[in-house]
Amino acid sequence: MQRVRACALLLAVLTAAAPAAAQPAQKIIFDTDFAFPPQDDAMALFFVLGSPELEVLGITTVAGNRSLNIANADVLKILEVTGRTTIPVYQGAAAPLMHQGSEWDTKRHGGWYANEPSREPPGGFAKTKTLESQGAVDYLVKTVMQQPGQVTILALGPLTNIAMAMRMEPRFAASVKQLVIMGGAIASLVDGGGNHTPNAEFNFYVDPEAAQVVLRSGIPIVLSPLNVSRKARFTKASYDKIVAADTPVTRLIRDNLGPGYKDRPDRIALMYDQVAAVTLVAPQLIKTVELYVDVDANPGPNYGVSVGAPQPWPGGEGARKMQVQTDLEWDKFIQLYIERVTRPQPAGK
Ligand code: RIB
Ligand code: CA
Repeated sequence: MQRVRACALLLAVLTAAAPAAAQPAQKIIFDTDFAFPPQDDAMALFFVLGSPELEVLGITTVAGNRSLNIANADVLKILEVTGRTTIPVYQGAAAPLMHQGSEWDTKRHGGWYANEPSREPPGGFAKTKTLESQGAVDYLVKTVMQQPGQVTILALGPLTNIAMAMRMEPRFAASVKQLVIMGGAIASLVDGGGNHTPNAEFNFYVDPEAAQVVLRSGIPIVLSPLNVSRKARFTKASYDKIVAADTPVTRLIRDNLGPGYKDRPDRIALMYDQVAAVTLVAPQLIKTVELYVDVDANPGPNYGVSVGAPQPWPGGEGARKMQVQTDLEWDKFIQLYIERVTRPQPAGK
């Protein structure tokens, strides 16, 4: 009996002393309406590239902030400049499922309606890095179906590619591990107005039909809406800390954000896509509530508006339960963000 107790004690001591087993990196697909910094998609990618907890299986592009051509050219260039050319890039949808851009859209933010050819990214087009021949939707379906329950999608643009993948493969939704989405605005919570129309957030407004299909899919979703983006305000103080380091990433940030701060040192940029990216590494820094959420895809004043509530409501029968971010621990959040974007990039990864 004594010997059994001694063995148990020894085992307990050894277990306590052993270093925690390293967690395998989370497999992610980075789905993005990419554009060069200061665009938030690029600033989110820098965080992801500096985070060893994440393994970027691939990047899939979609029209949104700019045309698909610009998204492609810019992301290829960034991967080349940062030395991360082994990450494959797959081109996705050049336009939303149904939404046609209006005069309103051309006057406001975004080039998704335009299909404009790419202008040269700063520093010229990528010299050797090219798009994969497979398209984004095929790639999403194949990758997720080969590893069911293992792949998380970080969706930072209109949800067109994800909706098309669901359409192509009925088992796709059930096979995705998790979707972290930057999109929507919940008007029933603080800071829930829209940023493109009075109540619609840009990503959901660009492709409301896709947003509705994806939110109703049953995929476990963490939604990062404008309510939380409005708590994440990037200022010159953070910029100065980043550019104090000298790496390819911080040089890109300096060259592309620096002129803006020279003109207006008090400018504030909301960290939309960065909040969603940080969620993958440090979810404990971001407060969430569980809500039923749906998207209005009926043309009219609420086209693309997301609605959320703690309980289903009459007319909201399509709404699904998801984790909705509302606030964050700013000091820890920005400290982690800065630490990751100033890390030297692992060579050739
Ligand atoms: O509304 C903000 C979102 O729209 C961000 O993802 C931004 O990059 C644009 O896609
Ligand atoms: Ca985006």
